[in-house]
Amino acid sequence: MGEPLLREVAAPVLRFDAGLAELIADMDETMRALHGAGIAAPQIGVSARVVIFELKENPRYPHIAPVPYTVLVNPLLRPLDDEQEQGWEGCLSVPGMRGLVPRFRRLRYQGCDARGAPIDRTVEGFHARVVQHEVDHLDGVLFPQRVRDLRDFGFEDALAAQMTPMPD
Ligand code: NI
Repeated sequence: MGEPLLREVAAPVLRFDAGLAELIADMDETMRALHGAGIAAPQIGVSARVVIFELKENPRYPHIAPVPYTVLVNPLLRPLDDEQEQGWEGCLSVPGMRGLVPRFRRLRYQGCDARGAPIDRTVEGFHARVVQHEVDHLDGVLFPQRVRDLRDFGFEDALAAQMTPMPD
């Protein structure tokens, strides 16, 4: 947080080439090393509209349905209605912090996978939340900017007793 690149709009991907595959491999490695549920290219210093995310079955989050491993390039999001819900978020670029963030509950997202094949999904709940969080990174937005009441933002350790655990 504070890095200028994280406040910028990332560049669209124009070529599905070896450079893109290398970027995705780098993002994958970083996400796994830091045990994140998602990561966006600007978080590893690259201005490109690429996000990846995944949530495996995890006994720490029994209330959250797993999300399949997804590479999403040049994403487009469309909320299906106005309904939003609040949820606790964290971010690999804002380590140790958590905040209560409103997100659209249901949305349709489109884009391409790593090889340029189209992706078109309608999702809800945590899956919808993680996509919105990651795509925000491509538009220069970090989750603390979306927290409505700064009393709902703080250190993970201090908030632990008050929040439903959520993956980063
Ligand atoms: Ni993040």
